[in-house]
Amino acid sequence: MTSLRPQVVAHRGASDTEPEHTLAAYLRALDLGAQALECDVRLTADGHLVCVHDRTVNRTSNGTGIVSTLELAQLEGLDWGSWKKLSRESGDPGDEVPDVVEDSDRSHLLTLRKLLTVIADLDRPVQIAIETKHPTRYGSLVERKLARLLQEFGWDRHTPEKPSPVRMMSFSALAVRRMRALTPTLPLVYLVERRMPMTVIDGQVPAGVAIAPDVEMLARDPRLGERIRARGRELHVWTVDTPEHVRVCLDSGASVIITNKPAETMKTLDSM
Ligand code: G3P
Ligand code: CA
Repeated sequence: MTSLRPQVVAHRGASDTEPEHTLAAYLRALDLGAQALECDVRLTADGHLVCVHDRTVNRTSNGTGIVSTLELAQLEGLDWGSWKKLSRESGDPGDEVPDVVEDSDRSHLLTLRKLLTVIADLDRPVQIAIETKHPTRYGSLVERKLARLLQEFGWDRHTPEKPSPVRMMSFSALAVRRMRALTPTLPLVYLVERRMPMTVIDGQVPAGVAIAPDVEMLARDPRLGERIRARGRELHVWTVDTPEHVRVCLDSGASVIITNKPAETMKTLDSM
């Protein structure tokens, strides 16, 4: 158990109330005081890194098709916000929220470059956890594109004197190793779902890389956090949306909590 307060990361932005991965979701999360943002990235057919979770555009836009087969201009022509509005109108919590974001921020595709620019322009330090999707399909292209983009911002190197606000995350140990080779000092996170044999992780995931199990794994195995931390690795946990799960994270010594509900999670932490 640790008494340190974990960092609260807004998963896909404030995705409980805003359309995930839009500028609106990220601005809302920042407005709510999130200390860090989580973002999934995919490669477009013409080589741009865009903030989209799914393989296809079908769920979160008004279009259809596979992200990696569409060009940036085609993706930018879609509406990325109305699906959320529709789901709210059909019965979701739909609370009235203060108007800190423009309507257009809700409907536009967000590129990773734009999101990094927003973070660079903030007047307070905010971190970003960038998860590369389809990591192995194009060899190391996604990681190389990411490393190059981070270099443009001066964020590809992380030192105590000049910490990078960025960490890279992946469910692929290969992608994590590739990123380590490209950016040896950048903080990295290996994501795990359902089952995690420690021996496999020790063999495949470089030393110093944080381990991020899903919260259900941690709830089922109260010693898991201890085993991860005993290996000198940070414990990050996703996706933590209830007070019970926040408790599990605290009892496990988590350094980072990734949540769709940043405001509620911070309130819960205040009360514990
Ligand atoms: O933050 C980790 C979490 O985002 C991994 O799952 O499917 O939401 O990308 P997913
Ligand atoms: Ca993710």
